[in-house]
Amino acid sequence: MSKTNQLIRIDANAREFTEVVRHRFAEWGAALSPAQFTRREERLISTDFYKNGGKTWALVNDTNEVLASCETDPIFLQHQSDRRPGLVIASVVVPTQQRKRGYASELLRGVIDAESGRNDFYFLVSEVGAQLYGALGFRACPLEIMSIAVNSNCDAGPSLRVLELNADETLRMLDIQSIRPGTILSPSREHIRWHWERTQIYHEFLGSAPLSCFGLSVGSNFLVLGYDFKFSKLMILSNQIAVDASSQDIQELWNATIKLARLHGLGSVEAWHARRLRSQIAHLENLNPQTSLSREDMPMILDLRKDLDPADIEIEYQCWV
Ligand SMILES: CC(C)(COP(=O)(O)OP(=O)(O)OC[C@H]1O[C@@H](n2cnc3c(N)ncnc32)[C@H](O)[C@@H]1OP(=O)(O)O)[C@@H](O)C(=O)NCCC(=O)NCCS
Repeated sequence: MSKTNQLIRIDANAREFTEVVRHRFAEWGAALSPAQFTRREERLISTDFYKNGGKTWALVNDTNEVLASCETDPIFLQHQSDRRPGLVIASVVVPTQQRKRGYASELLRGVIDAESGRNDFYFLVSEVGAQLYGALGFRACPLEIMSIAVNSNCDAGPSLRVLELNADETLRMLDIQSIRPGTILSPSREHIRWHWERTQIYHEFLGSAPLSCFGLSVGSNFLVLGYDFKFSKLMILSNQIAVDASSQDIQELWNATIKLARLHGLGSVEAWHARRLRSQIAHLENLNPQTSLSREDMPMILDLRKDLDPADIEIEYQCWV
C-alpha cells in the first residue's frame, strides 16, 4: 500500500458509500435511475446475506477521495463433510479518471491481506479477463456459459408439471440435491435470498412481468429456473436429472424450459458453468435441431489453498453478477 492511500471498510452511512454507489452506477446502473440504483444498493446491503459477513471496502487518498472500491461476501466450498470458508470478491470499480494507476491492485492486495486469516479461498467471475487477478496470484478457470436460443415452436409434453416457486420453495427444491459427492462451491440460503431481493428490486423498478422462479418436473427429474431481472433471462439455477433418464424425459424438460421462456417473451435460457448439464444439452442439440445453442467462455478466477484442484470443483452458482 502506498503511504498516502488507505484501505477502509465502510457502511451504508459513511460519506464514502455515496461515492462508491456513484462509481458503481456509472458502470452497472444502466437500467435504473440514479435514485433507484441507490435504493437498490441500500436494500441489498440490508439483506441478511450482507449483514452476516458482507463488507464494502474503499481505497481512499489523503483527502478521502475514493480511488477504488469493492465488496466481499462469504461463500463456502463443500467437500463431503468438510466445509471451507471463502470469499467472493465483487463490484470492483475504479472511477474512469483514476484507472491504470494500480489502484485496483492496491485495493485487492489490501483486502486479501486483511481477510487472509479467515478464508481458505477467494472467488470471482472476472469481467476483464485474467490479467488483473493473475498478478495477485489468482488462477483462471474456464467458465462455460451456455445459451439456448428460444427459436423453436415446441410443446411441452403431457407429463410436464410447472410449479411457480416462492423463495422458500426454491430453497427446499435446491435442498433435495444438496447431498452429493464432489467438491461443490455453492451459495448459502441467505445468498439465494439476496438474489431474490435483487430480482424483486428490478421487478419493482422496471415493472416487468412478475416472473420469479419455477420448478419443472418430469417424473423424478427436475430443473429449477429463475428469472434474472437484471438481464431479462431465464437462468437454470439447479437441476436433478437422473443418469439413466430417458431421452424423451430430457427432451420434455428442455422443451418445457423453452416454452416457459417463450411464454414470457424471453429470447434465451442460460446456464453458467453447469458441468453436469453439458452432456444433456449436447443431447438436446441432437434431438432438436431447431434449438440453437451457443457457448461462451469467461474466466472464473479462483485463489485456492494448495490442496484443492480447481478442476475438481463443481459449481452450483449460476447467477452471480
Ligand atoms: C477493472 C478495473 C477495476 C481496473 O482498475 P485499475 O485501477 O485500472 O487496475 P490496475 O491499474 O490495478 O491494473 C492492474 C492490471 O490489470 C490490468 N487491467 C486493468 N484494467 C483492465 C481491463 N479493463 N481489462 C484488462 N486488463 C485490465 C492492467 O493492464 C494491469 O496490468 P499491468 O500492470 O500488467 O499493466 C477498472 O478498469 C474498472 O473499474 N473497470 C470497470 C468496472 C469493471 O469492469 N470491474 C470488474 C472487475 S472484474
